[in-house]
Parts: sequence; structure tokens; C-alpha cells
Amino acid sequence: MGGAPLKAFAQVSHRAPMLSLDNTYSEKEVADFYRRMEKLLPNEKIPVVVEPKVDGVAVSLFYEKGRLKYAATRGDGTVGDDITQNIRTIRTVPKQLKGDAPKLLEVRGEVFMTKEGFAKLNAERSEAGLPVFANPRNSAAGSLKQLNPAITAQRPLGVIFYGTGAVEGIELKHHAKLFGLLKRLGLPCSERWWSADSLEEILAAIRELEKVRHDFVYETDGAVVKVDSFLQRESLGITAKSPRLAYAFKY
Ligand code: IVH
Repeated sequence: MGGAPLKAFAQVSHRAPMLSLDNTYSEKEVADFYRRMEKLLPNEKIPVVVEPKVDGVAVSLFYEKGRLKYAATRGDGTVGDDITQNIRTIRTVPKQLKGDAPKLLEVRGEVFMTKEGFAKLNAERSEAGLPVFANPRNSAAGSLKQLNPAITAQRPLGVIFYGTGAVEGIELKHHAKLFGLLKRLGLPCSERWWSADSLEEILAAIRELEKVRHDFVYETDGAVVKVDSFLQRESLGITAKSPRLAYAFKY
């Protein structure tokens, strides 16, 4: 790796589309989302997972037989920028997965700049008379857009993985099991997440996350509520742009 800076990013097709979520700032809309699902799946309990919404840049990494092959931005959801060389500079991103890696794994997550690293970087920039970044997300995005990976390598970036795209060689039936899998493979993921079985439990988890999120090294701008069972996700179906399987609550 290393070498001359790129002139432009190559384009990469995602194996599975990278979708985004419906956002809300209101607990009532979260309630409507859950009630809608209850109507679609009458007489079924619908367990969900509530997890932090990391305020960074969405990325997709592709591992083949445990080896990192490429990394891409979301782009238009179908095709993104090839940012492999930049992603490889992030220390916590494994180039080789640990243990029994699946044959193919497209793993989705969010690249962030730590709150502390952001403050330090801006202080240094301002001292050097350089323009400062507006917030850690902009600064993570700017760092990933560098055509010279040597610059990205100097930025205090991290990553949190929260989902999968195309997968071959393992069968995942519940989202809650993803956290253990990611950990075993050496892929960083959220330390805190909540299982909830009812609207009351969902709202309690969202409120608890709002209190503890300030302790995280990365910024969070909300909570993501995800249907736990992949079978129930299938029954619920997805809309063209926004999957019905999850919902983002913004603080
Ligand atoms: S799940 C199909 N989980 O928030 C579901 N997204 O629209 C895909 N984000 O830009 C997203 N933290 O990049 C999911 N724990 C999390 C997340 C998360 C941050 C971002 C994601 C997307 C937006 C949601």
C-alpha cells in the first residue's frame, strides 16, 4: 500500500444495496412505526434491538475468506467510491478477520472521528492557520475523501460496524447475534445495545441511550430501532428507499 496519491476514486458496486432509514425526532412516530409492524404481524411478538446511531460516514467493507478486499462509501446506494486505501489506514479495521471467517462478508458500518481527536485536530489546524472542521462527522468525511491515504492515516478515525450486506458461509437469524459474531471476527461494534419486546421497552432504551451516549468516544445523533428476527424482517418487506425493518430516532 502507500505510493502515489490517486487522481480520483474508482467506483465499486455494492453486492447488496446500501439503504438508509426513515428518521424521526418524535417518540410518537416511533410508536406509529412499531404499531404498524404489529398490524402487519398480528399475534406475533416483535422483538427489536435498539442501538446507537453513530454520526459518521457510512461505509461497506468486503471480506473474502477473511481477507479485506475493498471498502466503499455508500454513494447512491448501488455504487460508491472505492476508499480501500483510506480504510486500510484505520488501525481498528482488520485486514484479516479473526477465527472462522465466512466465505464472503459485506459488512456495513460508520467511520467516525473521535470527539477528543476532533478537538485536537481542530486546535492544531487553527494554530497552523488552516480552516477548521465544523464537526466530527464532516471531519471524518473529509478524511475519507483524501486522495492521499497518508493524510487519512494521520486522522484519529475509528469505525463501528452495525450490519451486513451480502453474506455467504454463515446464516444469521437474529440481529442481536451480530454483535457476538462481529466481536469474534475482530470487527469493532457498539458496546451498548438493548433488546426490547414492547413499545414501552423501546422508549425506555432510547431514553437510556440518550443519557449514556455522551460517554462514547464517538458522536451519536440518535437511536436505531431494528427488528431482531430476519424472518420477521422478510415478512415485513422493504420499501424502495427505506427498509421497514428499522427506524432511526434522532435526539
Ligand atoms: S442501519 C438498512 N444502524 O444512519 C439499515 N445505520 O439512515 C441501514 N447509521 O446513513 C442502516 N448508525 O449509515 C444503521 N447503528 C446503526 C447506524 C446507522 C449510524 C447511519 C447509516 C445511515 C443512517 C440511517
